[in-house]
Amino acid sequence: MSEHTALEQSILGEIAAAPDEAALEAVRVGALGKKGSVSALLATLGRMAPDERKTAGAAINALKDRVAEALAARRDVLKAAALEARLSAEKLDITLPLRAGPTETGRIHPISQVMDELIAIFADLGFSVAEGPDIETDDYNFTKLNFPEGHPAREMHDTFFFAPGADAKRKLLRTHTSPVQVRTMLAQKPPIRVICPGRTYRVDSDQTHTPQFHQVEGLVIDRTAHMGHLKWVLEEFCKAFFEVKTVKMRFRPSFFPFTEPSMEVDIQCRRQGGEIRFGEGEDWLEILGCGMVHPNVLRNVGLDPDVYQGFAWGMGIDRIAMLKYGMPDLRPFFEADVRWLSHYGFRPLDFPTLAGGLSS
Ligand code: DAH
Repeated sequence: MSEHTALEQSILGEIAAAPDEAALEAVRVGALGKKGSVSALLATLGRMAPDERKTAGAAINALKDRVAEALAARRDVLKAAALEARLSAEKLDITLPLRAGPTETGRIHPISQVMDELIAIFADLGFSVAEGPDIETDDYNFTKLNFPEGHPAREMHDTFFFAPGADAKRKLLRTHTSPVQVRTMLAQKPPIRVICPGRTYRVDSDQTHTPQFHQVEGLVIDRTAHMGHLKWVLEEFCKAFFEVKTVKMRFRPSFFPFTEPSMEVDIQCRRQGGEIRFGEGEDWLEILGCGMVHPNVLRNVGLDPDVYQGFAWGMGIDRIAMLKYGMPDLRPFFEADVRWLSHYGFRPLDFPTLAGGLSS
């Protein structure tokens, strides 16, 4: 065996035995690199006589080509094997169930759900949503709503007052959403049709009262709005909200400083065990206060009561949520207990619509 053949076989043997691409690269450098064995053979050509160089040159170059070819072939094999190994190591079973994401596990609080339901119902009746601040002035919360200074109705509101400001006036946490009526009438010309959902505050705490709670106010002002419209709007609302075909309502005379006449509204229901069913039964349940907007309130916001008239109502959102969804205690609403929320909460992508069903 010539010296060349022995070298070639030894290199080809190393190539065949290289276990991975790094080892193969080491073989390539050892043979074809600057200081490699094949390069050393080529370097001997310079010292040969021209004739000898011709034959030896051809033989060494052919050897070099065969080595290069063997390297390339082995590299392809190793590359394919490495890819195969990686593909099987990184295998992913896409038939495994996904871990539930936030849209699956998160829940919408019943208060937010009921607000969305209210907005869906009243938007369908042509109402828009108005908002006001939680921290109110005495003027908007009481005076402009026709609560005269020193009137006992102010005391009934158990108000949280702030310390007097530089102007000696005390701000307060709004005790009802009615000041948003005032803000809306000051900002907008009639016709007005708004609902005002939001947070309200009173110094009160037991199973059905929390210091912070929620109300929704409704207000309609135009030239002709009358009590027949008020009753119809409330009846349509109750049917849609409680998802029943008919409801019987009872309007009882009452008193609010900002409406005249004023009424409290009861709806017919049946109490069975701990459950309440609407649209049937012999019992009555109070759900809201309402009335025709008092002429003094219209005057206080610069509207002429001989031209404009309208009606308003106010309702506890927490209360109607408890009634609709059978929650006996109000306090857990504010406790942020995920167990309660996952029981009573709503799926985030099931947004309430009248067409799709409010609560289904
Ligand atoms: N603001 C009243 C309350 O908190 C509720 C209310 C009653 C609002 C009659 C109204 C209304 O707009 O007309 O008790």
